[in-house]
Amino acid sequence: MLDKIQEVIDEISVTKVISKEDLENFRLKYISRKGVLNDLFEQFKAVANEQKRAVGQELNKLKNITEQRFKEFSDALENASEENTGLGLDLTLPVVPNFSGTVHPLTLTRQRVLEVFARMGFNHEDGPEVETDWYNFTALNFPENHPAREMQDTFFVEKKAVQKDDVLLRTHTSNVQVRLMERKKPPIRSIMIGRVYRNEAISARAHCQFHQIEGLYVDKNVSFKDLKDTLYHFAKEMFGKDTKIRLRPSYFPFTEPSAEIDVSCFICGGKGCNICKHSGWVEIAGSGMVDPNVLANSGIDPEEYTGFAFGMGVERITMLRYGINDLRLFFENDVRFLRQFEGA
Ligand code: PHE
Repeated sequence: MLDKIQEVIDEISVTKVISKEDLENFRLKYISRKGVLNDLFEQFKAVANEQKRAVGQELNKLKNITEQRFKEFSDALENASEENTGLGLDLTLPVVPNFSGTVHPLTLTRQRVLEVFARMGFNHEDGPEVETDWYNFTALNFPENHPAREMQDTFFVEKKAVQKDDVLLRTHTSNVQVRLMERKKPPIRSIMIGRVYRNEAISARAHCQFHQIEGLYVDKNVSFKDLKDTLYHFAKEMFGKDTKIRLRPSYFPFTEPSAEIDVSCFICGGKGCNICKHSGWVEIAGSGMVDPNVLANSGIDPEEYTGFAFGMGVERITMLRYGINDLRLFFENDVRFLRQFEGA
């Protein structure tokens, strides 16, 4: 009789119920008055006394399993939506694995940039996003009321009696340069990454908030060649070993001389494509030698020390790296976008 009970247990465990009809058949076969269970309980009466205990236990187990299965089946049928009922509910289908999230593409770029510069001896520094005019403009050699301030449309938080005391949202990460030089004596070799704000209309190419990477190197005898070599090495590490760089004269109030850094287009290898607008080059950074006025404003003797600085957009580099053509995607947090960076 023990064998017979086991047989029924096995049978029930592989039974599938996908419709109301199946469910009723299951009930008739096992649970109804004329069903297998009742039949076995009838037979149990004839079991020898010394076996009653063992067989009784098994029989109770079977009864529990049968009732539990019946409940599971009827619950599942009830939960299935109307369309599914009758179509079939395959309880043996494997479940869809849980999606465990991805690292944001801007974070991927940030991590890679920090990694590359860390190996050149640059540490990681941070500064405030709500800033005074002094750190964002005046100390960086933007003269009061000078039109160069217009290069960066500013969100003001509070206007004060004196311009340098105005409170604003920083328009670039260069504010951290000044704070850092105030706090530390050279040698300074740091990377600063963070969010910046500009009053710009939101489009595929511009946003009112984005991220910058700032680099600063101040020591005795730092030269323009150091700037060029550092950025050349960075470009090769970031975009591939065949990448070339090109410097174009430019203007920033806080660097002199200043240069715009282009890298050879790593999409087309310099032949010309949509990304590089058929020029073979893409612009990635502004840079230059720290203006002596900025060193002096930050308490560093410009007669003794020189330095270079550069700044680049994290969104821009990320768009180039992954071929993303709309900047707004970074801030929308649409999982269909973010999931594409799984395992990147
Ligand atoms: N702060 C500049 C900008 O936002 C970039 C820059 C940084 C240029 C450091 C030179 C040196 O456009």
